[in-house]
Amino acid sequence: MQQWSLQQKAAGRRIAFVPTMGFLHEGHLSLLDEGRKNGDLLVLSIFVNPAQFGVGEDYEDYPRDLAADGALAEQAGVDVIFAPTAAQMYPRGFATWVDVERITDMLCGASRPGHFRGVTTVVAKLFNIVQPDIAFFGNKDFQQLAVIRRMVVDQNMPLKIVGLSIVREADGLALSSRNTYLTVEQRMQALSLSHSLAVARQLVADGARDAAPILKEVRDLIEAHPELRIDYLQICHQFSLQEQTQVDADSVLLLAVFAGKTRLIDNCFLI
Ligand code: PAF
Repeated sequence: MQQWSLQQKAAGRRIAFVPTMGFLHEGHLSLLDEGRKNGDLLVLSIFVNPAQFGVGEDYEDYPRDLAADGALAEQAGVDVIFAPTAAQMYPRGFATWVDVERITDMLCGASRPGHFRGVTTVVAKLFNIVQPDIAFFGNKDFQQLAVIRRMVVDQNMPLKIVGLSIVREADGLALSSRNTYLTVEQRMQALSLSHSLAVARQLVADGARDAAPILKEVRDLIEAHPELRIDYLQICHQFSLQEQTQVDADSVLLLAVFAGKTRLIDNCFLI
């Protein structure tokens, strides 16, 4: 993969890159679409990265369908799919980790210790292998995107990072490969995530600025559903991810909620 990329770049071609864990959905396709418009060549990686799953998480169960992904990638105009094995990415003796500090301490980082170290390590490796000029990530994983941007700046990595809007089902549920785990009942109750975000935005549009009553409203809407359990619910500054007590133009409402055993995340800007 690296050799191919270096040859293409030597010939003056720009490489656009979309890293994924596969089981592609419309959200991934929107990244590929943008990638195709922004590079001469489009590379898709598919790798369910064991290093970003904690003990007892869903690494084994994570949905995989390389054949379907291949067909979708072809339709999306992908030039190369890079789909390494775990043994290729983490061979015997592997000992070098990339660890972004501070902005990984809160939110998903607090709930999933070690998760972001796994993400940044694999993304740094993928960047070294694929040598992209530009890479695309979804805004649904808001903290992941902030952490990757931090890593790229801190490590002087020579590429541009682009974050794209969350793609939702017609009824509002944010697309995720993990939605496939949901029962019909959980799927219905999970609509309260996007619904409560919309309510929060409306409260702010109506003039609310104190975070506490906005968060209480969102909490009440979600907790009205017996299958849902809030992991975190916070209003944070978009760059520092520090919690805010007053809403401003940099405020993002971020939430993670368990629907049964499935952990869903969603977020929105409030202004
Ligand atoms: O967002 C994902 O799918 C993964 O975290 C990523 C960025 C491909 C790293 O494994």
